[in-house]
Amino acid sequence: MSDNKTFAPSSAFQAQAIAGAELYAKAKADRLGFWAEQAKSLHWHKPFTEVLDWSHAPVARWFDDGELNVSYNCLDRHVEAGLGDRVALYFEGEPGDRRVITYSELTAEVKKAANVLINLGVVKGDRVAIYMPMIPEAVITMLAVARLGAIHSVVFGGFSSDALATRINDADVRVVVTADGGYRKGKASALKPAVDEALADGKCPTVEQVLVVKRTGEDVTWTEKDHWWHDEMAKAETEHMAQAFPSEQELFILYTSGTTGAPKGILHTSGGYLTQATYTHRNIFDLHPETDVYWCTADIGWITGHSYVVYGPLANGASQVIFEGTPDAPHPGRWWEIIERYKVSIFYTAPTAIRSFMKLGREIPDKFDLSSLRVLGSVGEPINPEAWLWYRDVIGGGHCPIVDTWWQTETGAIMVSPLPGVTSLKPGSAQTPVPGIEIKIVNDQGQEVPRGEAGLLTITEPWPSMLRGIWRNPGRFHEAYWSNFEGQYFAGDGAKWDEDGDLWLLGRVDDVMNVSGHRLSTAEIESSLVGHPWVAEAAVVGAKDEITGQAVVAFVILRLDQVEAAGAAENISKILREHVSKDIGPIARPRQIMVVAELPKTRSGKIMRRLLRDVAEDRPIGDVTTLADTSVMSVISSKIAGGASD
Ligand code: WT7
Repeated sequence: MSDNKTFAPSSAFQAQAIAGAELYAKAKADRLGFWAEQAKSLHWHKPFTEVLDWSHAPVARWFDDGELNVSYNCLDRHVEAGLGDRVALYFEGEPGDRRVITYSELTAEVKKAANVLINLGVVKGDRVAIYMPMIPEAVITMLAVARLGAIHSVVFGGFSSDALATRINDADVRVVVTADGGYRKGKASALKPAVDEALADGKCPTVEQVLVVKRTGEDVTWTEKDHWWHDEMAKAETEHMAQAFPSEQELFILYTSGTTGAPKGILHTSGGYLTQATYTHRNIFDLHPETDVYWCTADIGWITGHSYVVYGPLANGASQVIFEGTPDAPHPGRWWEIIERYKVSIFYTAPTAIRSFMKLGREIPDKFDLSSLRVLGSVGEPINPEAWLWYRDVIGGGHCPIVDTWWQTETGAIMVSPLPGVTSLKPGSAQTPVPGIEIKIVNDQGQEVPRGEAGLLTITEPWPSMLRGIWRNPGRFHEAYWSNFEGQYFAGDGAKWDEDGDLWLLGRVDDVMNVSGHRLSTAEIESSLVGHPWVAEAAVVGAKDEITGQAVVAFVILRLDQVEAAGAAENISKILREHVSKDIGPIARPRQIMVVAELPKTRSGKIMRRLLRDVAEDRPIGDVTTLADTSVMSVISSKIAGGASD
């Protein structure tokens, strides 16, 4: 356990660090000037003169009169600066196939892909859905869409066809880019059939074209909308001039779970987003693009993949690894083998992965040469001090600083993190708002709480990469983030400052769960469960889990007539778990389903998840006095104790 020991940066690290302590002072003295200076590290086709327009709060306009092309910033400008031969991507396929792609090559591919999209009719502002495995074409497509001023909506390849269809329809997507499949755990895993299913029977009427990358070579069904990527790329013009777009040009929509059932389409725009993604990536990971090899294990289906696989690293001219597979296939040392092979120096992953490696033991990473590592990052959920120390000692050889980075899909880029050459690191704490970011911890009334006291994390000043809204739902944008506290963005997380003024994240305070660093909504899973004919009512909670942080636990009331009619006395919970997995995706599959006769509700009919969490986490049940029927919980817990669970 941590005894509050801190780890100061070594003098050697400090001496070469990109970010020094002066960043805090500069940002404090002139926050907007500081952001303007960061933005100037990008290439602006037309320089901006305005920094922030907050007159339409909470919708910010950053660098509003400036014009840039995001794709040009990630590609052409590096080639024009003579860095075309630098490796952009070291691609490691799951079966072990490898591709090394330089900035010149990546630029050429993106230009062609942009022409392919033009040939398919894509114009500025159109929405393009991307449903792909972690292969270079996924990155190429994102940059090609951005290059045209069109808007991408990446849908994680692990999501179901229903989830894909919902996202396509919410954004009126015109073109879908996919692959026949990808590889997972040693096997080809199909993707194209899910697109076919999503589009079947006119369910997604706005989709005109589907572009399909051949990855696995498995058979696919073909429709008149389908085009092979390789055919179209072969026909496409090679030259494409990147055009300038306004700073506030929409760049992407990314759906994330909220407290209600329907996922929210988080909208990000260009200039401010790219500014903060680039600045944080360089300073927080201490990126020296000439020498570092960077690897972020996130999939492009999540915000981490957008900001810290695609936009931040490429805008910084970094060389990075992208990996198609999972950490444990074909052997549990696969990640460490990759670090050894490519001499990865900066590594960014999630606590859940670290905890599962920790459980397997240090013998596995110890077999590999990890001495190239010099900075480690963590994201997605709080990292417990034990996992932090293990990460530092076993993976980082006891000498790599760890940056624990707090942020969200909505914030677009890192908001709280140590700076590796400045901060004395404290295991388990994300510590410090990034220079330029203003955070408060407040009580229910919006007043700041003293150090040592838990409260709610809010952001009190606009920041460049902030979301600009929820796609086609301005009301929900206001309601979800800005209605709790006047003028403050409410993140949904509990937090506290400790006695030294370091920030600790205490987990979500709303009905959002965090499973393996992925955000899931209790309401979304509940509505999937009640969508099954056997389920009358459902309540879902996130229960503590040693590896995944939280796990989905569902309580259901069955419609016994339906169950009997189906003759299904056995395997009920297995069938319901599969139902959720198919409906939303395997990440949403409940770990456990408990069949109960009643759910604990308040007199106004609100389910008291707190009490269900007590049951799911095997704790004595807390205060039940606000329940409409106080006997419900004892009935549930005696039933569970009697073995009625999964
Ligand atoms: C939620 C956002 C940011 C990319 C990955 C998740 C939790 C994220 C941390 C951290 C404690 C964290 C928060 C946040 N979270 N990073 N370092 N320490 N909690 O993005 O899916 O939008 O989820 O993840 O609860 O609100 P996301």
